[in-house]
Amino acid sequence: MSISPDRLSALRRGGTVALPQGPGAPFPGIVAHHDGPSRLRGHAPAFHEATVVRGEPASHYFRASGISACAEENGGLCTFWMGRKLAVYQITNQPLVGDDVLTPSTDANRELFGDFMGSLPHDHPDRPGKRAVVERSLGNAKFVERLEPAVRRYTADHLGRAAGRPVPLDDFTLSLTAYVDSMIPGVLDLTQRPLPEYLDSAEYGRVVRGFFDLASDVISNDNPAAMGEFDVIVPFVRELLTDNFDALADAPEFNMIRRHFTLWELPFTRRSVATLDATRIKELGTVIVATYDTTALSLMWAIGYVEATPRVKDAVVAEARRGIGPAAGTGCPYADPPPQAGATPSVIDLAVLEAVRLGGSNPSALWRRTTEPFTLRHRGHSVTVPPGTMMWLDRLQANCDPAVFPEPRRFAPANIKAIVRSDRETVSSLLSRGRYEINSFSMINADRNPRKCPGRLFSVRMQSVVLAELYGHYAVATHGTDLQLKHHAAMPRPARPGSITFLPEPGMPRDTATPREPTP
Ligand code: HEM
Repeated sequence: MSISPDRLSALRRGGTVALPQGPGAPFPGIVAHHDGPSRLRGHAPAFHEATVVRGEPASHYFRASGISACAEENGGLCTFWMGRKLAVYQITNQPLVGDDVLTPSTDANRELFGDFMGSLPHDHPDRPGKRAVVERSLGNAKFVERLEPAVRRYTADHLGRAAGRPVPLDDFTLSLTAYVDSMIPGVLDLTQRPLPEYLDSAEYGRVVRGFFDLASDVISNDNPAAMGEFDVIVPFVRELLTDNFDALADAPEFNMIRRHFTLWELPFTRRSVATLDATRIKELGTVIVATYDTTALSLMWAIGYVEATPRVKDAVVAEARRGIGPAAGTGCPYADPPPQAGATPSVIDLAVLEAVRLGGSNPSALWRRTTEPFTLRHRGHSVTVPPGTMMWLDRLQANCDPAVFPEPRRFAPANIKAIVRSDRETVSSLLSRGRYEINSFSMINADRNPRKCPGRLFSVRMQSVVLAELYGHYAVATHGTDLQLKHHAAMPRPARPGSITFLPEPGMPRDTATPREPTP
């Protein structure tokens, strides 16, 4: 079954068609359809009112409007009209469409991201090289494993400085992640002037902290007007490179910033830094911000959920103190060897993955536009979806699919255990491109997931190491954290971060060995 030729050719011409009169179902009898409150503009006005004016997460709108229920009752899929744009809405984590018929992920805000790989089409010749800059190190299980002693060591440094007084939980995870990412050798190597100094500065702090919120607002809320003063990313990155020039010049050759200069065929000199054009600076800035900002937000959810779930907290503390968690190991003579990215997931790994499933650090719902007609298969039938269609994934609800997770709305490591297929499963295999159960590392489900986040393994393992160090050596308490989704924030943030206090536990030795440099 296909959409009518008239409507298809109208979509091909301008990407839009007049909203059909009466029941507006484009694929009647095959894909369920949800008529919006506005006869002429479908869901667009109500969606805008809910997400932009009232600041609700996009997923909440889909639930409240009845779109989610419509999909739930009809095999996980339904269509709706967003103004004159046809939208396919999905509530399950199964691939529907190839990356080759979708616009690049960050198409809607490419101005913000410059030459960033997410803004390049699937077959752009520069994409493989750009992905490799991140994936060969942060996506490589052995490399990540070798980084772990350094992550532990710099986490311990930071915790030692912040212990004993309440700190806002969001500031804590952000400054900890930004510090550790700056210091560990072979990732960013911003050791002369580490990232927290910029995040705290009056000049850059506000904008750089909100960078991904803005980007997400543009896509998740279909709100291009959100782009504003954000060109400040350019002086921020140039200053960062200048202030850290000597450290970067001495950095291992697989350092992600240095690798960008190699990719651009530019020598790493002060002159190159001073004359680097804005599109390249933005590209680099996006990768740098992605490195700390996403992990910091996910870590905030992980700590928030662990603290709110006493049974899980007890298991995390016990594991961290037994030395089974990744933070123990060489520093503690009684510890078992720490698990590695290639080992069976520990309780702490399960807690981190579970927090990524429920919280994570990408918006509750996102979309990409189709560029060509494609065949959508649904319950034994096929329809031709026209170009210009918005393919929406409600990842918040898809990540709570009751067919996949036994306790979908609760924070329970049993949910991750339920997707473990054999005793050979590892953190790495759970996160592989071919796995779709937890969709927090892709914008929508695409066949073979070629854009799945290349930093995901590093981020998950880093969070595990941080939790093991924190719970292994400190008595932790949070206060005033509200894990509902915050309004007026496109990234998924807790409604109230509250504060965290941690006090040293006597008798828990800390590893202060100097870490060796990893090699990829
Ligand atoms: C919990 C932490 C993280 C989450 C939830 C996350 C999420 C995502 C998502 C949703 C995408 C979009 C994929 C798509 O286009 O479909 C993405 C892409 C990307 N992420 Fe992450 N990310 C995380 C950590 C990181 C880290 C630590 C880095 C380090 C540099 C990173 C670098 C990237 C890059 C470069 C892309 C673009 C990939 C491409 O276009 O092929 N991310 N990430």
